[in-house]
Amino acid sequence: LTTEQADLVKKTWSTVKFNEVDILYAVFKAYPDIMAKFPQFAGKDLDSIKDSAAFATHATRIVSFLSEVISLAGSDANIPAIQNLAKELATSHKPRGVSKDQFTEFRTALFTYLKAHINFDGPTETAWTLALDTTYAMLFSAM
Ligand code: HEM
Repeated sequence: LTTEQADLVKKTWSTVKFNEVDILYAVFKAYPDIMAKFPQFAGKDLDSIKDSAAFATHATRIVSFLSEVISLAGSDANIPAIQNLAKELATSHKPRGVSKDQFTEFRTALFTYLKAHINFDGPTETAWTLALDTTYAMLFSAM
């Protein structure tokens, strides 16, 4: 990513990054197979767990992870740190049986959420696509 592209991603992310519960809800709603992998949520009704403390805790963990990656974007010096985070995600999720297809589903749901909630002009969409392509290439090569 160029500095300008990284700035676009950071600026737009900052407008939605505190909507953690909303974001996880959108992911689970679109892809119940992802929710089914969470022992404490599997088999439950999404709308009834959405407002629970456990849901908020998990949403914050996942969204904070994204914030951490995004905060590192735009500087070549940070590439190894981003690779490490991608590796951590791959390693921690492998025993949970999370597939590449499911990570791709997550990406699709996140992208749809972003499109609906931020001003997604051409350059912003290009920057997000590149950011996700780059991180997912790292993630998938570590799986
Ligand atoms: C934890 C599943 C994607 C970040 C977890 C847990 C499960 C899980 C089962 C453990 C929850 C528990 O404590 O019982 C999945 C599935 C995914 C997915 C099925 C399918 C796409 C992601 C993505 C991110 C992420 C894309 C980051 C953006 C985390 C973090 C934790 C976590 C930070 C807590 C720390 C840890 O235990 O590793 N995930 N996850 N997950 N997930 Fe995911």
